Amino acid sequence: MLFTADTDSIVREVVRQRLRFSWVKWVKLSHPPLRLTGTLSGKLQPSATMALVDLLENVNLVSLALGIPALVILGHVIKWFLDPHKIREYPGPFFAKFTDLWLGHVAANGHRSEVVHKLHKQYGTFVRIAPNHVSISDPLALQIVYAHGNGSLKSEFYDAFVSIRRGLFNTRSRPEHTRKRKIVSHIFSQKSVLEFEPHVRLYVGQLIKQWDRLYDAGVKGLSGEEGEGGWRGRDGRVWLDCLPWYNYLAFDIIGDLAFGAPFGMLSACQDAAPVAVSHEKAMASYGTSGIEEEIKVVHIPAVKILNDRGNFSASLGVLPSWMRPLAKQLPWFRQGQQAVKDLAGIAIAAVAKRLAMPVDRVDLLSKLQDGRDDEGKQMGREELTAEALTQLIAGSDTTSNSSCAITYYLAKNPHVQKKLQKELDETLANEDDPVTTLEQVKRLTYLQGVIDEALRIHSTSGIGLPRIAPEGGLTIGEHFFPEGTILSVPTYTIHRDAEVWGNDPEAFRPERWFEQDQKAIQRTFNPFSFGPRSCVGRNLASMELLIIVSSILRRFEFVLEYPDKPFDTVEGFLRKPVECNVGIKRRAQA
Ligand code: HEM
Repeated sequence: MLFTADTDSIVREVVRQRLRFSWVKWVKLSHPPLRLTGTLSGKLQPSATMALVDLLENVNLVSLALGIPALVILGHVIKWFLDPHKIREYPGPFFAKFTDLWLGHVAANGHRSEVVHKLHKQYGTFVRIAPNHVSISDPLALQIVYAHGNGSLKSEFYDAFVSIRRGLFNTRSRPEHTRKRKIVSHIFSQKSVLEFEPHVRLYVGQLIKQWDRLYDAGVKGLSGEEGEGGWRGRDGRVWLDCLPWYNYLAFDIIGDLAFGAPFGMLSACQDAAPVAVSHEKAMASYGTSGIEEEIKVVHIPAVKILNDRGNFSASLGVLPSWMRPLAKQLPWFRQGQQAVKDLAGIAIAAVAKRLAMPVDRVDLLSKLQDGRDDEGKQMGREELTAEALTQLIAGSDTTSNSSCAITYYLAKNPHVQKKLQKELDETLANEDDPVTTLEQVKRLTYLQGVIDEALRIHSTSGIGLPRIAPEGGLTIGEHFFPEGTILSVPTYTIHRDAEVWGNDPEAFRPERWFEQDQKAIQRTFNPFSFGPRSCVGRNLASMELLIIVSSILRRFEFVLEYPDKPFDTVEGFLRKPVECNVGIKRRAQA
């Protein structure tokens, strides 16, 4: 035997001494003013410091291990007992009453909307999902919690999304938001958005060309590696996962619009974007011509990084601020922090490249550069980059997830697909260009019904977006919530409210849009949120979806590779499809 009783007790003593030494050293080193300046005015006196040192010398590991969790639990129970926001009456999961860790755990698992939906089914309209957070599944609450002029602000949740500096999406200051929104909303007016249409059409055309090429090879029985997961020709179709292709499309569109050049994902058939190795150097170089070669970049998978970043921020954001630095030490969160940094690096590299080559074109960046606030001030370079990054994040996978979901539901429901194609064929019978224009398709009612129905059933923004009840509180029906309470209305759940949508809310049925009470539908349909913080890019997103869906569905017919497999999703801030494997056939009419 290697250890005798004696050696064991020697080892124990050494460990004990070391522990004592490090505690004492820590107190002595980190609190010198306690010893030197202790007065009666509240600071510890020398004797108090020594008493603390004595105490720590006598603390053993076991009491620490038991004491700290006990104190933390006690703190949570006391808070529950004091009930500062008067929400104890609301039902919810046991642990959610005491700690934010319950929601943090649910968020990190990737199915928050579904979990909260089940809770509403179990408990009713009001559910406590965190010690200070009530989820409300009443569509009428949308008009109160998110309304213009109600004074509610975004909660601390959004702090976890800040990188470079606060942007339009994550600022929590009303004056700062008003200033930014004034500049940015001009950029997305319907008139401005029309100027972006040629850029959108260009990349939709590129996607069609790529799928045409793969289809031509696929009918010959060939296969290839392009697109994550590759493609295979079989039974007169090409089989592939359409999600990465929609991601390439959305990234190239927003890259072009926000930074003056596409990321080149569609042409490379690959998820790769350049990121600046040194953010500082890249930002310092802004506006310096010829700098392009000097900015060192590496290529990283932007779509993957965007996903990691969304999952990280949405899970971190539900934890209280004091817990976040601790959580960031965990390996999963560390990876998320790297994703935040890398994503910022993509925007920094792209803005540096664009500003180094002044171009005479109208796009989001040129409009951001020209924008002025009420005092006539333009954005500085850091703010400009933060806003370009905001648009990259907000305007990329939102569109691609939605396009993917629309394709999935059309492939799953062939009769709906046929009905849509009939509408497209009749309207576009004399058009040769495979890429439609907004003018051609904006009044097609069934097309709009298909898009809206997919955004209802798969709203990429599904979670209840958290807002803080303002001074004076908020009243919802007969329920009063005092100032400081966090409230949210879960889009996933209100999009399944049978009173509004009919008895089959889980079914994909565009016809419901023509049958149900229009007023109730419009009040409840919430894919772009509502009020002052609603999606500023909605006009652009709607145009993109109309052009993408009409062009792609006119050209191709889709079937699901695994018809019985459920549509798998994973949710960070957005609810995203995991994959969508389809068989594509070029249509005879196209
Ligand atoms: C189908 C596509 C899209 C959907 C479903 C969508 C949805 C949303 C939602 C739900 C919000 C509110 C987020 C919150 O309160 O936390 C939002 C905000 C925002 N969206 Fe979109 N979005 C889409 C496309 C776009 C595009 C294309 C852009 C711009 C290029 C964009 C830019 C923004 C910005 C900047 C905000 C923050 C607005 C503010 O706080 O004032 N979005 N979006």
